[in-house]
Amino acid sequence: MQGRDLVIVYQAPLSQHLDTLLTFLGDAPKSLVSHQLPNGEQAKNLGELERLIGTLIDAGLGRDGLLLALGGGVVGDITGFAAACYQRGMDFIQLPTTLLSQVDSAVGGKTAVNHPMGKNLIGAFHQPQAVFVDLDWLDTLPDNELSAGLAEVIKYGVIADPEFFVWLETNMAALRAKDKTLLTHAIERSLTIKADIVSQDEREQGVRAHLNLGHTFGHAIEANQGYGNWLHGEAVAAGSLMAAELAKARGMLDDEQLSRLYRLNQAAGLPLKGPSDMTPDQYLPLMMRDKKVLAGKLRLVLPQGIGQAVVVSDATQSEILDAIKAVQTANP
Ligand code: GLY
Repeated sequence: MQGRDLVIVYQAPLSQHLDTLLTFLGDAPKSLVSHQLPNGEQAKNLGELERLIGTLIDAGLGRDGLLLALGGGVVGDITGFAAACYQRGMDFIQLPTTLLSQVDSAVGGKTAVNHPMGKNLIGAFHQPQAVFVDLDWLDTLPDNELSAGLAEVIKYGVIADPEFFVWLETNMAALRAKDKTLLTHAIERSLTIKADIVSQDEREQGVRAHLNLGHTFGHAIEANQGYGNWLHGEAVAAGSLMAAELAKARGMLDDEQLSRLYRLNQAAGLPLKGPSDMTPDQYLPLMMRDKKVLAGKLRLVLPQGIGQAVVVSDATQSEILDAIKAVQTANP
């Protein structure tokens, strides 16, 4: 950051963190401008991208400038996409302030904005120069956002690490109490699993799709409810249970494994159902807009026991509907 032109992108609730960052940077940058996005997921759209690019132009930023994304997934995703597009690509650094962005969205180079017809439909793969995770950012994180981050942490156990899943079962209460030692382990383990997967398949031609467990159902929930009304992690949690019910119906999970998934979501303070005002048949049209639809076939990530995942492209509409109904009527 020394001697470079910097633009910091943030949202209003993080003004206090912005002050801390500005003090830390001191007079190291050559120039510094901050750009405030509107609050919430609504900020992740093409209009706000254009406004951000306008700030970069006004600031006279060249390709050798640097963007800093200070915030959660929304700030990271739109800032990363601006960095991918502006003058055909420039550097950016992620400073993720939510658990969800620290364990998932800030790492791996996925950047995007939403389109009214679907989440993250406009984007690019563009790796940050660095990701700095500071646990102190989590001190002010609301409980529901901590839980939303835990949904992605649980995902890593389900798709890749049965021992980590057991560790989460043991330590969930302390994680929700923000025990820093345990949070450090949870974040390190999540990022190790993510780094391993992304290094094998950066552009999601294969194994990286496993990171989308629950996301196809979850994106349908987010689109139906209006972006931001259900937190991404909450929608992923309910969606993961739908994927798990489908896996159970196919004999890929047993009753006990399915119950453990419901119990761990409950312990993490996550929803155990989709929205009560969304009917099962409202999911499918929204799911078909997912980026994972190939040649008209929906590709779903399903758990294969606890600790492994597979992608299936032969799930029938009735299987999907049955899985959603099973979650909506479950009494775990
Ligand atoms: N959040 C899923 C991925 O980075 O691939």
